[in-house]
Amino acid sequence: MVRKLLIAGNWKMNGLLAEGADLAKGIAGEVKKMGKLPCEFLVCPPFTLLTTVKKSLRGAKVALGAQDCHFADKGAHTGDISPAMLKDIGCQYVILGHSERRANHGETSELINVKAQSAYRNELKAIICVGETLNERDAGRAVEVCTKQILDSVPESATYQNTVIAYEPVWAIGTGKVPTTKDVAEIHAAIRKTLARKLGKSNANRMRILYGGSVKPSNAAELLSLDDVDGALIGGASLKVEDFIGIAKNACKC
Ligand code: PGA
Repeated sequence: MVRKLLIAGNWKMNGLLAEGADLAKGIAGEVKKMGKLPCEFLVCPPFTLLTTVKKSLRGAKVALGAQDCHFADKGAHTGDISPAMLKDIGCQYVILGHSERRANHGETSELINVKAQSAYRNELKAIICVGETLNERDAGRAVEVCTKQILDSVPESATYQNTVIAYEPVWAIGTGKVPTTKDVAEIHAAIRKTLARKLGKSNANRMRILYGGSVKPSNAAELLSLDDVDGALIGGASLKVEDFIGIAKNACKC
């Protein structure tokens, strides 16, 4: 089954206008130089940079995504952004259920499920994140935790076309620590099995499952060569053009 690798940058809460434009222009320039692309590129800047980044990416095959959205299309939700607004501004993707939102904003899998359905209604692809904490891993519960998060967060209406999964062990995010390839392979296989149970084999076999957590150019080739790893969700290293592009070059041999 051929699944095109997705190299996705999660800029988190980083970048003022000028920095965002420079970073996007730098990425766009490098992607244009590559010619035929063996992977897809995506950047997810903060809301305030979406328009600027979209302009700066012009002419380059780099998709645009946001890092969260509300589940409603509009209404009395002070401080929130709707999927309709993201679509309107030119986004194709939205990250949902990142562990920083689960932990710091009390987001539950049930809420993420409703947000994903709303994303689909607005023709956005959802990148649904799952991952265990260090305590859960140490207790031998990583597979169980990720399986439950997939079952509860992924809507019945998810397909390989509207959904990407990201496995991001919480303890590997921004720490420089990375699970062994054996552990990554185990969780990705378990996630694909759970997706098959929930959405059918055909969807599960075609759905991309990204790995995220301290991905950098030096570990990208090893992680992304695993059978069930279909790309990367990159935080810190996505803020430097050479690192972000270096990850893609090492992983996709482009
Ligand atoms: P990191 O973050 O690459 O800085 O570890 C990944 C993420 O949180 O998506």
